[in-house]
Amino acid sequence: MKTEHAPTIQRTDYAPLAWTVRRIDLHFALDPQATVVTSRLACARNPEAAPGPLLLDGEALETLSLTIGGLDPAPGAVRRGETRIEIDVEGDEVELEIVTRINPQANTTLSGLYRSRGGYFTQCEAEGFRRITWFPDRPDVMARFSVTLEGDKAVCPVLLSNGNLVEEGDLPDGRHYARWEDPFPKPSYLFALVAADLVALERRELTASGREVLLQVWVERGNLDRCEHAMESLVHAMRWDEETFGLELDLDRFMIVAVSDFNMGAMENKGLNIFNAKYVLAKPDTATDVDYEHIESVVAHEYFHNWTGNRVTCRDWFQLTLKEGLTVFRDQQFSADMLARAAGAEGDSARAVKRIDDVRVLRAAQFPEDAGPMAHPIRPERYQEINNFYTATVYEKGAEVIRMLHTLLGPEGFRNGMDLYFSYHDGQAVTCDDFVEAMSEANGRDLDQFMRWYAQAGTPRVAARGGWDAADGSYTLTLTQHTPPTPGQTEKLPLVIPVAVGLIGPDGADLPLQLEGEAAPGATTRVLELNAESRQWRFVGLSAEPVPSLLRGFSAPVILELEEDDARLAFRMANDSDAFNRWDAAQRYAERVLLELGAAAAEGRALGVPVAFVEAFARLLRDDRLDPAFRAQALALPGEGYLLERMQPADPAALRTAQIYLGAELGRVLAADWLALTEGLVEPGEYRYHPADAGRRALINLALRYLCAARVPAGTGLARRRFESASNMTDRFGALAALVHGALPEAEGALAAFYERYRDDALVLDKWFALQAGAWRRDAGATPVLERVRALLGDPGFSLSNPNKVYALLGSFFRANPGEFHLADGSGYAFWADQVIALDAANPQVAARMARALENWRRFTPVLREAVRPQLERVRAAEGLSPDVGEIVAKALEA
Ligand code: TRP
Ligand code: ZN
Repeated sequence: MKTEHAPTIQRTDYAPLAWTVRRIDLHFALDPQATVVTSRLACARNPEAAPGPLLLDGEALETLSLTIGGLDPAPGAVRRGETRIEIDVEGDEVELEIVTRINPQANTTLSGLYRSRGGYFTQCEAEGFRRITWFPDRPDVMARFSVTLEGDKAVCPVLLSNGNLVEEGDLPDGRHYARWEDPFPKPSYLFALVAADLVALERRELTASGREVLLQVWVERGNLDRCEHAMESLVHAMRWDEETFGLELDLDRFMIVAVSDFNMGAMENKGLNIFNAKYVLAKPDTATDVDYEHIESVVAHEYFHNWTGNRVTCRDWFQLTLKEGLTVFRDQQFSADMLARAAGAEGDSARAVKRIDDVRVLRAAQFPEDAGPMAHPIRPERYQEINNFYTATVYEKGAEVIRMLHTLLGPEGFRNGMDLYFSYHDGQAVTCDDFVEAMSEANGRDLDQFMRWYAQAGTPRVAARGGWDAADGSYTLTLTQHTPPTPGQTEKLPLVIPVAVGLIGPDGADLPLQLEGEAAPGATTRVLELNAESRQWRFVGLSAEPVPSLLRGFSAPVILELEEDDARLAFRMANDSDAFNRWDAAQRYAERVLLELGAAAAEGRALGVPVAFVEAFARLLRDDRLDPAFRAQALALPGEGYLLERMQPADPAALRTAQIYLGAELGRVLAADWLALTEGLVEPGEYRYHPADAGRRALINLALRYLCAARVPAGTGLARRRFESASNMTDRFGALAALVHGALPEAEGALAAFYERYRDDALVLDKWFALQAGAWRRDAGATPVLERVRALLGDPGFSLSNPNKVYALLGSFFRANPGEFHLADGSGYAFWADQVIALDAANPQVAARMARALENWRRFTPVLREAVRPQLERVRAAEGLSPDVGEIVAKALEA
């Protein structure tokens, strides 16, 4: 554990180090409890920096020796602290040799060198390398790595590190070794090693310029039949980056390794990506369509980092969005292109479905973050623990900021900016300013005001007002922006906000847009740039009052405030030519109905669903010209987290009552339609992962949800039969989820059967845990989900030391099941505090993620607030609390 009360690090304090490292030669003598790491560093004075001592970071290291130029250091030349060594050096170059001993077996943090299922693995981003050896562990120090691994051949027959394998051989006593050299200088956070008993799926491909590269996906023996999709995804990502950005793989060998114990999704270590197994392994019997989609996008994300992150890296961790926002944007574009290609003629709809998915994530995770005590700009100004800033803001809002640049500059302008960025900065560690400056220069466009997106926290509001002048056929649109204050940042300046606009005529068709002063009408969607607090646009030449469709495609990460009555929302649900906005109109209407039902439930009034809403909803349900994947999105109600964010005060129990009521009503009233739909969607033959098939499966599974929620006998029977006879996980799990969420009597037996079938499959069991932790209770007499979760902690398939298990069981309960977690008696919160404290002792990163579940507690009803506070205080006072959890609870209590 690190020190308590971690100091706050400020972005503006950045200064280059006096000494940097040119080359590092690492030798690992791998041993479960006493791995010896010998590090030889060729260090050089940094001519650009102020003079000073050579600085090294270290954490949880046992230092066996340190020599300078082959000699013991002169007295007083080395000052040693707990996590820092300072060395006074004469001259401009020096060689250090440092020997440390570490205990991978005891390393439960999953940062640094650790063990998982008998193997050795590393995770170094952000500051894990210092848990392996003393080193200036920051991304602006880029060194050439040479790595020798030596280990027991029976335990770890496979020895991998970054770059190229240059030598391998046997050693006495059943040991062997391998030496790897990475030709590209890199920061320490991109170092990796893997030593384990693994097998690989291999493929050879030619790059665009005709070089042959070896691709490998390494997994545990027995999982070789689950790697094909990851390999396919990798090849698609390679091709896409060549075609879209002219970026080629620069190594002769590219490896992906799956590991079962991993804190996050995956890691882009140079040439040796290490993945959470859930983002590699898939076969029809164990993975759902959504799993297949996630694998494709995570494989691509890590691959894309090779250019955006590795070739050009971050100067310091405040610049994290430089690589993450840009790489998320790239993986989103890639997935959209893949979906569109597979969909053929339905390409536009497929793209909209992907955009909807991405915006759902943004609204569910980033908007609440921006409205709470952890609110920060995509480039934070300060942090205590950098691991706490791998956030939805840095990743997802960061990607939205890049997307706005793409919208403002156009695809070609954006590509030119990327080319210039690489031509200037390849091989460097740079800042977000460097990126935006390249975009600016390549396009001859001033982006100074745009840079405010990097500096301001909080979700901007854009209020829209329209004025129709029947006399001259003009429509005046006024857009006004406002960003609410966030902790430590009360003043907000106007941003550059691209607002894509369309005007819909009374017949439902888009009108060609002609702005005052223009000679003729043009396109039906235009991007307006709101770059002041308020601006007006006058559209002319209109024959009837139009209905505005604003923020098409979600052209900016803002909350649009536009007064629309129910009839207008229904009109846009039926007619908006922009599929994203059509979906959004449905979401807005459903949100209105749900919040009204929630208010009624909170006040004990009778519940009822407006007939007009059911009719508008039914029109979408019956419109079989619409792509099934789109219909599945449009007919799914807004997420609970997002709704709670919009509810004043947030009352999870009342909202849950509303959701249960509305879901059951839509199932009951429209039962015939749902049933017809399940019959009408022709079942494809054998399972294949294809967006068109996935769309049909998603829509059928949604229909089962509504039918089971309403307990329509024909529907529950169908769910049971589909559960029993399914040929793939998407259908099987979809049916199981419908039975469980409907709280049907059949659910328990189905859960037990599912467990029996998959008891030895950890990834599938995660789904089983998550489903139960996220289940709804429809009858007040049923066992509270909290009791279920408590019991499941003791299941032989569960383990608090495996992050996937924690996220599945505790994460699903704390974050995805507010209606059950926020119990008025506070028992959910006491349980939360117990679990956070227990987790923190072993794995602070995972504990901090769970701790964040209560950061927005001040938005809840007074009864709940009263119950939360003592538990937050209990965690804050816990002995030996990590800086990770410490920062989260302190901010939650301070704000
Ligand atoms: N850089 C990784 C990515 O976004 C994620 C990452 C950061 C990570 N820190 C980590 C992964 C710690 C695992 C553990 O692709
Ligand atoms: Zn990333």
